[in-house]
Amino acid sequence: MKKRIFSGVQPSGIPTIGNYIGAMKNFAELQDEYDCIYCIVNQHAITVQQDAQQLKALTRSLAALYIALGIDPQKATLFVQSEVPAHAQAAWIALCNINIGELERMTQYKDKAAKQESVSAGLLCYPPLMACDIALYNTHIVPVGEDQKQHIELTRDFILRFNKRYGKGTDILVLPEPYIAKSGARIMSLQEPTKKMSKSDSNPKAFVSLLDEPNVIRKKIKSAVTDSEGLVYYDKENKPGVSNLLVIFSAFSGKSIAELEELYKHSGYGTFKSDLAEAIVSVLEPIQVRYHELLHSPELDCILNEGAKRANEIANATLVKMNEAIGLVR
Ligand code: AQP
Repeated sequence: MKKRIFSGVQPSGIPTIGNYIGAMKNFAELQDEYDCIYCIVNQHAITVQQDAQQLKALTRSLAALYIALGIDPQKATLFVQSEVPAHAQAAWIALCNINIGELERMTQYKDKAAKQESVSAGLLCYPPLMACDIALYNTHIVPVGEDQKQHIELTRDFILRFNKRYGKGTDILVLPEPYIAKSGARIMSLQEPTKKMSKSDSNPKAFVSLLDEPNVIRKKIKSAVTDSEGLVYYDKENKPGVSNLLVIFSAFSGKSIAELEELYKHSGYGTFKSDLAEAIVSVLEPIQVRYHELLHSPELDCILNEGAKRANEIANATLVKMNEAIGLVR
């Protein structure tokens, strides 16, 4: 039997090249070797305030993007989280088995809470919901960017604890492993290269979104922050901007960072940046064409309906086991 992969992306904005390099780029490749379950985690997105119409539009848009990236619904399952009620039901169980102190330690919570005027309880409770997203599908591997590593560790702690408390010697939930890419697991902001690139950044110049038009991509890369040295080489400490652009270039061109350093050692930042922009455009253009074909198509609804059906079957079976183990039965 194939090992199972679960991965989710929040419809909290249009995915950036950070989301792409850190997670989404590999989604299509993985579907041949693994049983892949891909989820649009809209319940995670509402941990910060969202406009209802926009959330709906971004949910559909993200679904179209997944398929445009090459996900084949015959091989992988794609669904919307809120269409599988077991996630929220299992999350309550997780919340009762994870301590507040464990949640307050999460760096993503601290970062996001610092930016909010009022912090929802949901923002604090995001990791238990994520733990259940993963656990409900008996997941073996979770491909994520570096920022989600701590959440996967908490997921593992919860699963180990759950099995120990309620398993009576058998493992009810499968213990997952994170899969974090060696390069590109943390793409930085184009404007503040010591800060992570995020799709919800209020400054659109800080990221390239997967749906940015070619000229917008060129402009954003041109205005990316570098330094005054004028030399292209990797030095994360002293040249965070150029180093970030090298990592992005490597991911979009398939060339190693050493090859790129060699290629651009005699050119200034101008040529380097314009070649990088073209490399991004050449990858994203065909994805965008496919995306626009799919966005309003009934085909997309069929894929999501089928996906929700399969996801509900798998998730409900695990939820039944969890409820029985805990005694949430008559
Ligand atoms: N900058 C990044 N570099 C590499 N990987 C990244 N990921 C996110 N940002 C980067 C990875 O993308 C996947 C989907 O992320 P998410 O939608 O679940 O939420 P996030 O991690 O909170 O991503 P954002 O873009 O920063 O969203 P907002 O702005 O809404 O908070 C994950 O695997 C993540 O690791």
